[in-house]
Amino acid sequence: MNILILGSGGREHALAWKLSQSSRPLKLFTAPGNPGTAMVGVNLPVDPLDFPAVRSAILEHNIGMVVVGPEAPLVEGITDYLEADAELSSVAVIGPGRSGARLEGSKDFAKGFMKRHGIPTAAYETFTAETAGDAVRFMLTLSPPYVLKADGLAAGKGVLIINDHDEAVRELKAMLGGRFGKAGSKVVIEQYLAGIEMSAFIVTDGISYRLLPEAKDYKRIGEGDTGKNTGGMGAVSPVPFATPEFMSKVEDKVIRPTVEGLRNEGIEYRGFIFFGLMNVGGEPYVIEYNARLGDPESEVILPRIESDLYDMLEGVALRDLDSRILVTSPDSAATVMLVSGGYPDAYNKGFEITGLDSVAGSTLFHAGTAEQGGRIMTSGGRVLSVTSLGETMEEALEKSYRTVSGILFEGVNYRKDIGFDLKKRER
Ligand code: AMP
Ligand code: GLY
Repeated sequence: MNILILGSGGREHALAWKLSQSSRPLKLFTAPGNPGTAMVGVNLPVDPLDFPAVRSAILEHNIGMVVVGPEAPLVEGITDYLEADAELSSVAVIGPGRSGARLEGSKDFAKGFMKRHGIPTAAYETFTAETAGDAVRFMLTLSPPYVLKADGLAAGKGVLIINDHDEAVRELKAMLGGRFGKAGSKVVIEQYLAGIEMSAFIVTDGISYRLLPEAKDYKRIGEGDTGKNTGGMGAVSPVPFATPEFMSKVEDKVIRPTVEGLRNEGIEYRGFIFFGLMNVGGEPYVIEYNARLGDPESEVILPRIESDLYDMLEGVALRDLDSRILVTSPDSAATVMLVSGGYPDAYNKGFEITGLDSVAGSTLFHAGTAEQGGRIMTSGGRVLSVTSLGETMEEALEKSYRTVSGILFEGVNYRKDIGFDLKKRER
């Protein structure tokens, strides 16, 4: 089976790395990929948003399965595009069609979906430029902090949490006035939930699902969860407060109603669902859905899966996932993301990365790297993710930090406190 993974980050390297361990004879392609995916397969110079080019690559390389990494091609409808093509009728696509991807692509759709299916989430209302006056009146009924969400994809920047009422009104007007383009033509205003966040993940064939390991990521650039939001500075799995009791509430109140809700609404969903959850006094609330795996969450989830990932994906493709086995390691995984100095604001790239050969005990997942005449250079904000497994989270973190200390490039930055908040809880 020839498999094409779409994307170029740490998530896609982790997917390719995990699939490369399959006992089945697989040939892996990644488009566009990175130097990490090139170590376990073939990179193709194809933009995942250029659907005709993806189609040509599938035909040229006799691809039987496409695994879509990032959200943009899903929300743009790559699955519908490929599935509608008679010449590609034998190609399985792992990733929902446009209608299922609305769980991530439209906050208003996601909130309405949760309301229809009784899935716990913050109370909300949706407004447009025409109803801006109502939005301002609605805000008067809420107490701070105010949570404003642009409806569409806004590269992780579409959620604002603001304490000051007047500032929140100004931001709301800017959003409805076009600050985020068409992603902000609708704005969801919702109740603020105080709790601790974590993420749950499933893979589903639309009928049954498999619960993958959960994770907690660290989104802010600065230690102690300060400073700007990033794509993610590190992650750990398992999450100590995701007890069996809490996870069974997540399955009963969130996951099952979501899979059944999709089915009842006639939305065929084959792929991953990422549930961003808030634990509010022991009860799960959905903060957001994503129609894909997370990054850097994938870099801790996939290493904890002991069974064959391809077997599960084949179950998704053939709609017999309930007969496939998922075995999860009891070990802990921790990943630390090395980023370019200045990220998430402006940063320089093109610096050589050294120390990549002495990483015993850890696994490196490439993200923003590029190969140049045999040398590995930085080529993005999030550069490399360093994952380790250990019997405890502490041990996994210690291994990752030891490896991180040997990897160098000009301006390298990373958070030194991944998992530290959870250590306090464990005691
Ligand atoms: P999202 O892009 O939907 O994941 O939101 C970004 C971040 O905003 C989340 O990870 C939460 O930390 C925070 N957030 C979103 N919605 C709420 C809410 N209703 N209450 C508290 N925090 C929230
Ligand atoms: N790490 C958050 C995400 O992948 O959306």
